[in-house]
Amino acid sequence: MEKTFLMVKPDGVQRNLIGEIVHRFEKKGFKLCAAKLMQISDELAKQHYAEHKERPFFGELVQFITSGPVFAMVYEGENVIKTAREMMGKTNPAEAAPGTIRGDYGITVGKNIIHGSDSPESAEREINLFFSESEILSYTKQDNDWIY
Ligand code: TYD
Ligand code: MG
Repeated sequence: MEKTFLMVKPDGVQRNLIGEIVHRFEKKGFKLCAAKLMQISDELAKQHYAEHKERPFFGELVQFITSGPVFAMVYEGENVIKTAREMMGKTNPAEAAPGTIRGDYGITVGKNIIHGSDSPESAEREINLFFSESEILSYTKQDNDWIY
């Protein structure tokens, strides 16, 4: 089943939006496979955002993403990579539609609340950068007589 890497960025953590964001993906029906609160090192930030290393905003981006705790997650489900990107909204919150995470909670492009993988290749790369194999759980949601 398809998996994606999602991360509440330092601005989302500072603004107490972890629960709100997890709530949206949980309600949508995707399955949480891994999650942790962590502080990104300079080295991990540069690896994660390597595709942007020549861009003028790279220095600021690395500084921002390492500035405080992030909440890293792996979600699983059919078409989760593309659907999660749609739930996030456009990169620039000023252009993100209302109802999307960035559209509802962001203002500027530098601080846009959430990261999500943009392709199957980046999802695999990012999941492996942030999580070890043993941290990614595989489980089924069963019928239990105590859920009603
Ligand atoms: P990008 O991968 O283009 O966007 P997305 O997060 O939607 O995949 O850019 C990575 C991050 O870099 C983006 O979330 C915010 C930051 N950024 C800027 O600060 N300025 C910019 O002009 C762009 C394009 C991105
Ligand atoms: Mg991107």
